[in-house]
Amino acid sequence: MSNNETTQQKMYYPSEASMKNAAISGMDAYNALCKEAEADYQGYWARHARELLDWKQPFTTVLDESNAPFFKWFPDGKLNVSYNCLDRNVEKGLGDKVAVIFEADNGEVTKVTYKDMLSRVSKFANALRGMGVKKGDRVVIYLPMSIEGVVAMQACARIGATHSIVFGGFSAQALRDRIEDAGAVALITSDGQHRGGKALPLKPIADEALTLGGCDSIKNVIVVKRTGGDCNIVAGRDIWFHDAVEGQSEVCEPEWVDAEHPLFILYTSGSTGKPKGVQHSSGGYLLQAVMSMKYTFDIKPDDVFWCTADIGWVTGHTYITYGPLACGATEIVFEGVPTYPDAGRFWKMIQNHKVTIFYTAPTAIRSLIKAADNNESVHPKQYDLSSLRILGSVGEPINPAAWEWYYENVGGGRCPIVDTFWQTETGAHMMTPMPGATPLVPGSCTLPFPGIMAAVVDETGTDVPWGQGGILVVKRPWPSMIRTIWNDPDRFVKSYYPPDFQGKLYLAGDGAIRDAETGYFTITGRIDDVLNVSGHRMGTMEIESALVAHEKVAEAAVVGRPDDVTGEAIVAFVVLKGPRPTGDEAKAVVKELQNWVGHEIGPIAKPKDIRFGENLPKTRSGKIMRRLLRQLAKGEEILQDTSTLENPAILDQLKG
Ligand code: PRX
Repeated sequence: MSNNETTQQKMYYPSEASMKNAAISGMDAYNALCKEAEADYQGYWARHARELLDWKQPFTTVLDESNAPFFKWFPDGKLNVSYNCLDRNVEKGLGDKVAVIFEADNGEVTKVTYKDMLSRVSKFANALRGMGVKKGDRVVIYLPMSIEGVVAMQACARIGATHSIVFGGFSAQALRDRIEDAGAVALITSDGQHRGGKALPLKPIADEALTLGGCDSIKNVIVVKRTGGDCNIVAGRDIWFHDAVEGQSEVCEPEWVDAEHPLFILYTSGSTGKPKGVQHSSGGYLLQAVMSMKYTFDIKPDDVFWCTADIGWVTGHTYITYGPLACGATEIVFEGVPTYPDAGRFWKMIQNHKVTIFYTAPTAIRSLIKAADNNESVHPKQYDLSSLRILGSVGEPINPAAWEWYYENVGGGRCPIVDTFWQTETGAHMMTPMPGATPLVPGSCTLPFPGIMAAVVDETGTDVPWGQGGILVVKRPWPSMIRTIWNDPDRFVKSYYPPDFQGKLYLAGDGAIRDAETGYFTITGRIDDVLNVSGHRMGTMEIESALVAHEKVAEAAVVGRPDDVTGEAIVAFVVLKGPRPTGDEAKAVVKELQNWVGHEIGPIAKPKDIRFGENLPKTRSGKIMRRLLRQLAKGEEILQDTSTLENPAILDQLKG
């Protein structure tokens, strides 16, 4: 470790041990890959696609830009994602290697080998085929963290069905909306889920979703038995997972699909309207899942990889279901929560399973710092974490204090932290340190993944000088990028290739600044109305729509405010149809509205703080002054001139 004089930032250099045998060892190796990509962009990706994936039919075209921004990668190549994750590893002799170490909420451990995984996936794929599910059909998966969750995704990939996972914390309404938009033919769910020592129902929520209308496309519901007890099984529609796979053959010929075939749709929040179905490809997506496992995580045969994300988010797709398995790695799949039975759970699991690469979100780290501060016995130093060699962070900016704690207390000052910036839309890492090469600066995602042409520009699309903040863009298409928004290609173009940049630059939706000396990127946060709460992405409009759907609410505006643990917290300013409530009455309505939003979207969308006004601060033309609301949410004094407001007095009511 040494202090870089010019940038005044502490830089952490990779140790000999991290450089030794690293896929990218030293900055010269990193720069060489970047140069290779610059000199021959298509050749660079094609080389990796040939080296890292198995193709049934090799591609001859690398990138088709004829219908930009609807780019096509390896369009005449054919492959199967599940084949690349399972069969080829078994064929390479890894059949008896453990693919998945599943640890249940209660600590029970189940190990699944590659051979066993292939058999489970093939059986379930045959079961789906038997129900008539075929290539191109959409299948919605509403499952907790489980072996079956991974099996279900892989089985869809095997038969060319496009899966769409809905996070188990989403409500019936949210599930319904996604089923309808995707036009799914089957729903895979479970009777319930175990979290934090409790058994929570899931099937009743799925049942409710199916009664809300718009789900007629669903022909089959497959139910995994997890919690036991009573479960409603609708004759002719529902079937237990274990009954569906019973007697099925262990052999299932994969469906060979075009590289562009949609592997999955994953809904995510935008700044306007309903969540958008981000559509991903098969070949390009898998390529970067594998490349980032190789370069960012430097995956090696003996590694035990643990990504703590849920399969309901993109991180769980790329770094649980697809990337690690396609690399023949051993990985952990964890059902529970970091704080049960106590906040030492992660550290204990790392110790027990000898985890070597650990990938989690800043929110989790911050909450575990708090817990360790309050209770020595759950401090990472109480555990043997010497197996670790690489740490990762994802989903939101990591503040330098949390970074340093993670580095020192979890990584023992030995393990590089890869702070990976990426998005649902990007499919895989966009900017991240390379663990055996990049000197680290806490809070910075450092430099682009080799081949990613990231830049910081102004409103006209012109590069801004280093040291000056701007808009984060990507200048060239990359293989794992979003292909379109399901059912809404116009929205895809408007959201990501806006006319402001002549449709030539991918707009990430984040602001960024490059360090004046090193050129390192630091993400400065979303530039749209998207919030990031505990690493979960949420549109303010979605929450506002949920609030105004309540019978008591006349108007609502939602903003974010910084939060020590969750990164951002949701603050809602609400005008009721009746008189403005105060005291106990206000408290009761706050509870009611929080529960309402929980029911409409899911518990993760519940506003932490709800304030009531007789009106919202508006300009004379009726526009809500969100800037002022953000200041109020933070508890800042409003010092600027508010005389242009129609109703300046309202600010006092909303102070909180
Ligand atoms: O704002 C950025 C933030 O998360 C957004 C993407 O959210 P989502 O699509 O849900 O994907 C999260 C997991 C990949 C980005 O637009 N974000 C993600 N990673 C980082 C980050 N912000 C700062 N640093 C990161 N490492």
